[in-house]
Amino acid sequence: MNVLVVGSGGREHAIVWKLRQSPHVRKIFCAPGNAGIADVAELVPLKVTDLEGLLRFTNEHEVDLTVVGPEQPLVEGIVDFFEEHGLKIFGPRKSAAMLEGSKAFAKDFMARHGIPTARYRTFTKDQRFEAERFIHELAPPIVVKVDGLAAGKGVLICDTKEAALTALTDVMVYKTFGRAGEKVVIEEYLVGEEASVFALTDGERFVTLSPAQDHKRILDGDAGKNTGGMGAYAPAPVVTPALLRRIEQEIILPTLHGLKQEGTPYTGCLYCGLMLTDTGPKVIEYNCRFGDPEAQVVIPLIESDFARLLLSVAEGHLDPAGVRLHAASAVCVVMASRGYPDEYETGKVIHGLDSFTLEDGVVVFHAGTKREGNALLTSGGRVLGVTAIGYAHNLEETIRNAYTAVHRIAFDGAYYRSDIGQKALRRSK
Ligand code: AMP
Ligand code: GLY
Repeated sequence: MNVLVVGSGGREHAIVWKLRQSPHVRKIFCAPGNAGIADVAELVPLKVTDLEGLLRFTNEHEVDLTVVGPEQPLVEGIVDFFEEHGLKIFGPRKSAAMLEGSKAFAKDFMARHGIPTARYRTFTKDQRFEAERFIHELAPPIVVKVDGLAAGKGVLICDTKEAALTALTDVMVYKTFGRAGEKVVIEEYLVGEEASVFALTDGERFVTLSPAQDHKRILDGDAGKNTGGMGAYAPAPVVTPALLRRIEQEIILPTLHGLKQEGTPYTGCLYCGLMLTDTGPKVIEYNCRFGDPEAQVVIPLIESDFARLLLSVAEGHLDPAGVRLHAASAVCVVMASRGYPDEYETGKVIHGLDSFTLEDGVVVFHAGTKREGNALLTSGGRVLGVTAIGYAHNLEETIRNAYTAVHRIAFDGAYYRSDIGQKALRRSK
């Protein structure tokens, strides 16, 4: 089959790389892709939100399956649009993608279906005074979230009531997030360790992939600003098999049942961002797609044919019992541009990438790279996802392999965290 992958980051590189291993896949196209993806797929210069252009491309190039990486086109309805034209596509329809598209929708949905999450209330911009009163009822830290998509920046964790009131004014009065901030969710702060659990589902059946942990903050020890994610590992030992069963029973099943019951069944990858609290797992957020950089560690651990797996989801005949995962561990260290997540420079030459093969147990997924002549240049905040896969299931060794590879790669201003995976090691000691 021919496959079109929509997106341009490390997650999409991991998707394309895994699809390439399938004997059932002939051509892979990626729109718009990046310099690393260009080695394994044909790049298509179309934006991820150019739904008409993407539809035309799939028709002209006999694409059998489209796989959508990022949330924006899903929330804008790419799946509905393609299905109306009789095309197969991996991802949820617009109505189910609302779980990520609107935090207020997601919270109200969880409340309707008894899915554990932080205590909250939602407010429109006309309810500013009620919102202020609710802030006074909560004990800090207080979490203020803008309702709509905000490229991962719409969550404000406020250490004091005053800070929460200021955040509220910024969003509601000064409209710092534009229309995404027309509604606001205010919620209690959850304490615990975070984990990301992905379920592949065709709306009826589901299978969970290896639980992962992201590292969202820019500095070692989970300090500093929030980023898109500075590294990940899987499987995360904090999610024991028993805890994973509990997450399936208390969160994933009721989510999928609830959506189906409301007439908006979910297909694709359901991302549950969880806080593992003293009183059990709670949902911090849903996403309607694979996480980035979690995809870079979760997807390599899938043993089954990835193309057939994604197609079975899109066609509605997923066989969960047939899905095999490697008994292995994977670690991804993100190399970013100096300055990220604030302003950063691009156009730096990247050295040292030629020396890796999968035999070394390392694969480098590109996030923000471009080619100019023979040179490979940085072109984004997150540049590379250096990923080690350790089939011996020894996380410590896998972490070491990832960093050995990182140390062989260089570009001006390269920044990475040096403690990816340490949390898991501390747990297992
Ligand atoms: P999100 O953009 O929803 O992924 O949120 C970004 C980060 O904010 C999460 O990964 C958590 O670390 C943190 N966060 C969001 N909501 C809460 C909460 N209710 N309690 C504690 N931390 C939270
Ligand atoms: N790694 C967080 C996300 O993909 O949203």
